[in-house]
Amino acid sequence: MNVTPAKALKGIVNLPADKSISHRAALLAAIADGTTVIDNYAASEDCAATLRCIEDLGAKVEQDGSRVTVTGRGQQGLTEPSEPLDCGNSGTTMRLISGILAGQPFTSTLIGDDSLQSRPMRRIMEPLSQMGVAIDSTDGKAPLTIHGHRPLNPIHYDMPLSSAQVKSCVLLAGLFADGETSITEYVATRDHTERMLAWFGVHVLERQGDGGTSLTLNGPAALTARDIIVPGDVSSAAFFLVAAACLPGSDLILPNVGLNPTRRAIVDLLLGLGAHIEITDEQNNCNEPSATLRIQGGLSQPERTVTIDGEKTARLIDEIPILAILGTQLEHGVEVRNAAELRVKESDRIATVVENLNRMGAQVDEFDDGFRVHRSDLTGAEIDSHGDHRIAMAFGIAALLADGETTINNAECAAVSFPGFFETLHEVSQ
Ligand code: S3P
Repeated sequence: MNVTPAKALKGIVNLPADKSISHRAALLAAIADGTTVIDNYAASEDCAATLRCIEDLGAKVEQDGSRVTVTGRGQQGLTEPSEPLDCGNSGTTMRLISGILAGQPFTSTLIGDDSLQSRPMRRIMEPLSQMGVAIDSTDGKAPLTIHGHRPLNPIHYDMPLSSAQVKSCVLLAGLFADGETSITEYVATRDHTERMLAWFGVHVLERQGDGGTSLTLNGPAALTARDIIVPGDVSSAAFFLVAAACLPGSDLILPNVGLNPTRRAIVDLLLGLGAHIEITDEQNNCNEPSATLRIQGGLSQPERTVTIDGEKTARLIDEIPILAILGTQLEHGVEVRNAAELRVKESDRIATVVENLNRMGAQVDEFDDGFRVHRSDLTGAEIDSHGDHRIAMAFGIAALLADGETTINNAECAAVSFPGFFETLHEVSQ
């Protein structure tokens, strides 16, 4: 993909639907009693993998454009898959569905692409084995064979790392346990699972204390199907928001952006730098807030220091690659810390950000748990996405800000979360 510099971005960007919420909608619908209509289900490859998996487990899935109708099998009704379940590139599919498979009276195997099969799975194997489930893996990596049974032992799990996927896996397994399953998380992560469980009639009790938040649910718990409308993905919006903020003269409208408080940190960070963002048409669908964003180009306070660490890192975890690009345009750059998790995403995002920024002539220091990007002029270069959608898209934005043309190799992986990303970018670039 060749991308040339732009002076401004103008027009309307229709975002893909939120990936995290779409996965959860499909998974919960599959084990609910009744039929769930999901409007604006994400067209991303990751979310298609989740639909294939629930179909292989016996849920009925009908798709009409972005409307997906799932006829659930109820708490007890999933059936043994005849083949391994293929999660493609999607860590969320594999880690969340494992919680459900743990509580089934059959054995199932989960596979994925090379990237997914190199990502750490012990983080879910550990709590699930405490719940009494045997899981075979290759050195803590997929393929995973889950020897499910029912009921599971209810446990209390103290989260040793900050991960919404692990938290969600344990909560989903808790639906099949006999008694109270609870989790304490010390760094707040995205809470879509808790919100969607409540939408399907299962209350997750939240209590603050001990320096963390504890979440409790009572199993076994049955879900009642209820229609869902998925908002646009704020993590996809992030690429366009940063680009518009960095290109004075821009004027972009992004309708229906999900603004869940655990996800909107990128919007607040840009507002803190003096970005001109107007938030209108605020809505709440299925316990998830959303609004239309209009951004006009320029930052009135680009001299402010941006350090992302601790809780902020968890809240911005998927936005770090695009924040690195933003750093090249800020007087004091951007420093990211406590982000070692980035090393086990779809690529080692610390290494792939640093490598590609270096190729574009930026000054950047690499740390074990993050990086510091200095204010730099970017030069067009040949970029390697390493098959990572967020790297391909972040450097698509870097290319707009650079001097000369940039070639992004393996750019088609953007479809993992944002099919048509480069076409949309081209349409709004001036
Ligand atoms: C996700 C959680 C995050 C995030 C991923 C989606 C989710 O992963 O990076 O893109 O939908 O729960 P971790 O739980 O590994 O932090």
